[in-house]
Amino acid sequence: MPHDRHPVRLVGAGPGPADLLTIRALRAIEGAEALLYDALVAEEVLALAPAACVKIQTGKRAGRTSLKQETINRLMLRLARRGLKVVRLKGGDPSIFGRVGEEAAFLHAHGVDTEVVPGVTAACAAAAQFGFPLTHRGQARRVVFTTARLEAGAVQADWAAAADPEATLAVYMGRDTAPRIAQALIAAGRSPRTPVAILENVGGPAARAAFEGTLLGLAQAMLAPGEGPALVVVGDVLAAMTAAAEARPAIPSRAR
Ligand SMILES: C[S@@+](CC[C@H](N)C(=O)[O-])C[C@H]1O[C@@H](n2cnc3c(N)ncnc32)[C@H](O)[C@@H]1O
Repeated sequence: MPHDRHPVRLVGAGPGPADLLTIRALRAIEGAEALLYDALVAEEVLALAPAACVKIQTGKRAGRTSLKQETINRLMLRLARRGLKVVRLKGGDPSIFGRVGEEAAFLHAHGVDTEVVPGVTAACAAAAQFGFPLTHRGQARRVVFTTARLEAGAVQADWAAAADPEATLAVYMGRDTAPRIAQALIAAGRSPRTPVAILENVGGPAARAAFEGTLLGLAQAMLAPGEGPALVVVGDVLAAMTAAAEARPAIPSRAR
């Protein structure tokens, strides 16, 4: 049996609901013989895999600990070399804070091909669900997908690029440090009056704005611990969301 018959598919699962998968992602999942999935991948997406598919959870969920990246890499390689159709399923889009580059490089170095299937990233899902654009003529000419978190758990210190008033900022993995991010952005020159929101569990029915206000308000806020993944969005484009919120009585769940 050839060792590397099938490419390993690095697939974006989108922000949660199965109907936000691409058809290509759905086909890859339905055809998978081995599925390695991250903690953010929803149960309803996992349920689309065949019953006989080997399912391996790689991220923290239900009290289990994460597998080390090296272990995940070796597992993918071993399963692919057995001739299985391997799908590596990641929340959102695999190319955005999804380590797709590292995993692909490892597999290529060991003679296994890969195919990346894009997914809906959290920022795009948030914009659609909460009713604001990421770019807007005359207001937001750039979108910065960034994270506050660096390798060793440190918080990014240089926010100069993100302080650009014409940039919409989508900060991944930033909820716990959101007030510090707001302080850093103000210190870097972004107006304290810039709108900011912390959007939790976007894509699904549990979506809610855990915070809506200005950078100054966030810089001074004491935030309660959240439930589920959350994205910090900064930019004047959020004015559209505020307008939509005023038109609707209840903010907490905006899923339709
Ligand atoms: C390791 S990154 C993965 C991002 C993912 N590849 C994407 O494209 O959305 C995890 C972070 O993405 C954000 N995120 C992912 N899914 C989310 C969701 N459904 N709602 C809000 N934020 C989400 C959060 O900031 C979370 O801490």
